[in-house]
Formats: sequence, structure tokens, C-alpha cells
Amino acid sequence: MSQFDYQAGQLCAEDVPLAQIAATFSTPTFVYSRAAITGSYLAFTQAFGNKAHRVCYAVKANSNLGVLSVLNALGASFDIVSEGELARLQSLGIDGDRIVFSGVGKQTSELDAALAADIACFNVESEQELHDLSQRAAAHNTVARISLRVNPDVDAQTHPYISTGLKENKFGVSIEDARRLYLEANEDPNLQIVGIDCHIGSQLLTMAPFLDALERVLDLVDELSREGIEFHHIDLGGGMGVQYTPDETALDIETYASAVLQHMGNRPQELWFEPGRSIVANAGILLTRVINLKQNEAKRFCIIDAAMNDLIRPALYQSWQGVRTITESSAESGERYDVVGPVCETGDFLAKDRQLDVRQGDLLCIDSSGAYGFVMSSNYNSRNRAAEVLVDGTEMHLVRERETFEYQFALERPLPLSS
Ligand code: LLP
Repeated sequence: MSQFDYQAGQLCAEDVPLAQIAATFSTPTFVYSRAAITGSYLAFTQAFGNKAHRVCYAVKANSNLGVLSVLNALGASFDIVSEGELARLQSLGIDGDRIVFSGVGKQTSELDAALAADIACFNVESEQELHDLSQRAAAHNTVARISLRVNPDVDAQTHPYISTGLKENKFGVSIEDARRLYLEANEDPNLQIVGIDCHIGSQLLTMAPFLDALERVLDLVDELSREGIEFHHIDLGGGMGVQYTPDETALDIETYASAVLQHMGNRPQELWFEPGRSIVANAGILLTRVINLKQNEAKRFCIIDAAMNDLIRPALYQSWQGVRTITESSAESGERYDVVGPVCETGDFLAKDRQLDVRQGDLLCIDSSGAYGFVMSSNYNSRNRAAEVLVDGTEMHLVRERETFEYQFALERPLPLSS
């Protein structure tokens, strides 16, 4: 659950009351905490102790330049899935040697941009991509460092939309194909094998699927080692689950690290990871104001100024995120509400059936909105996308301005009037 807390009855991001952020920047606004991002990143790196490893933050989870610069300052590496994400990192002066490139459909222009940036590793997801990459590397007169994303065919036991490691999913190549493709790549002067990777899904709350996948990957590592192919690193992807609901327990990173290290035994490879959600989900909230309250025979609705276009996770995955009032009130008072936005869809809800002590004009906070929040937002219903603010101790930084209507349609052109 969100690391933001009540101080003197006011919900605060670090030392700044959320009410002050709303008064300064209006609502809806995503608010991130530098201390919380730093804390979860360091918990991850420290869990692996002195063993050489890399944490490649999955940029897709939250790609705001303010958030990326916090992780950059911590020395993180980054996992990207598009040229746009590469451009974001380059705008911060981040070197290619701290970037890995995942993704099932990399286009030629994207391969070219990443080759020009001399990235640390391409996480290749198909035979065709391997061939295309080899060809583009030849054209650039360079050698591409590669890893094959293995699909280990394990059930991540998470929401089907965010489960990626089953053979019916589009991701990666099977263990059998990987074996053959590694032997092929080993003969290709334009490719340098540096690693092997897998990512089986997101929001995993149990260790078993991670360890099943790791065992299958390690079997292949050992087998290929007998064939003379040695990996520099093993990339175990992201997917570590966080706590959203009060009765859910986040995957414990220390337990995860010690189980992974135990399975590694004395194998020499570096361990790389691609966590996204576990670094930022609970380092952010969505700040919103109650437009009005409405009641019919069946239900009470709390209508807020944030909607599914700002935070689509509840509508898309039926996900549960905490909703809190900014001023602490007795938990049991109030009524039960569906918390909904102004968008013209019944699927436009942020929360269902929540006990809230709330009045028109009150401020609410939607917890755990730091990951897959703003990045999945849209302009549906021609709504301006929310502002983003990063709090650092007592300072508030506006890291993305609220959009304007002119900005929304600046790229559009009306047809000339016909005479
Ligand atoms: N690496 C790869 C190759 C991935 O596809 C992903 C996430 C990650 C790393 C980071 O996974 P994480 O540590 O964040 O679980 N929009 C969904 C989540 C989609 C995850 C997609 N891939 C949600 O809101 O739950």
C-alpha cells in the first residue's frame, strides 16, 4: 500500500501535505515521492548484497523524466521497450551501456537507434528479430550484444493480461528454439552472446513461478555451457508484486533474493533484473477532488475529477487500489460509494463499494498509482491529462504540467471548408 502517510491528520507526501499540492497544482495530479522511489530501489539492490548485479528499471512502469532522473542519480540501469523510451533516457544523458531493450516487435528504426546508442543488450524475442538485428548490425559495421528472451512455459498465477511466460503468450522463444538460436548466433560475427533473459509476468505474489522459471533457464545455461556458450549475465526480468489491498502481502525482496542466490549456486553469471512496479507503484498516488455525490435506488456514487482516462487499471484489470480522504476521519463513519469519474462509460470507475466519509469538494487520494498510472493515461473524452508532481523532502517539483486543450489538438488539422 502507499507509503504516503498521515501527519497531524493530513495525508502527506514526504513532508508536504497533499492538500497543499492540490492548492498549488489543482487536481487530478499524480504525486510521487523521491524518498519512496529511492527506498524501494535501494531495498532491491541491497537484497542482493555484494553479488554483482544490475537493476534495470522498467521504464514503461513510469517514464516521467523526473522519476527517471531520480533513478539515474542512484546509478540504475534501464529496461526499455521502444525508441520513445530510449529518447527519454538519452534526453537525460544516460549512456547506452546502462540500457537493455526488450519487446516483441522491435522495428528497424528502433534497432538502428539502439545500435547507434551502443546499448548494453538487446533482449531478442524471435528468430526473425535475431536475423534482422544481425543484418542491421552488419549495416552499422558493429556487433550487437544479445540475450534471448526465453519463454519458460510457467504459469505466473497473475491476471491473464499481465501473464507472459506461458507458451500461448506472444513473448520470447521456447527453450528448444533458444538452444538452436544460441548455437546459430554463436557463429554470427555481427552478434555477441552476452546473456539470457526471461520475464514471466507482472504482480507476482509468490516465489514458486519465479523459481520454476529460473530452474528451466539454469538448465539451459548449463547445457549451453557444455556446448561452449558462456553467458555474462542472466536477466530474470521484473514482475515482483506489491501490496495493493490490505490483505495482500508484497513479495518480500529479501526472500526473493536469497532464493534466487541459492538457486544460482556458484555459477559465475551476473544477475540482472527489470523491476518496474515494485520500484514505483507505492511511491505514487493520484490526487483527485470530489465533484459531487449522487444517489439512486441501488447505489451511492462519489463522482471525482479523475477518471479511467487518468488511471485505467481498475477498468482494465478490475484492480483494487486504496482510496483515502486527505483529512483523516474515523474509519467507520460515512457511506459506501462507487468512486467513479466523469467519462461516459459504465467501466469508468476507480473503486467500487468503498466506505468513505466524504463531501462535495473534498480531496481524495487513490493509492498505489505510481506504476502503470500516468503512462497508461489518455485524452479520452478530450480530457487534459493530469499534472505530475515529485516531492523531495519539503520541496514540490512539477515534473509534468497539466495539459491544455490547445496542446491536445495541436497536431490535428480541420479539413478546409468546401465551397
Ligand atoms: N520486463 C519486461 C520484459 C516486461 O514486459 C515488464 C512488464 C517488466 C519488465 C516490468 O514488470 P513489473 O516489475 O512492473 O511487473 N499495465 C500492467 C502491467 C504490465 C506489465 C508489462 N510488462 C498493470 O498495470 O498491471
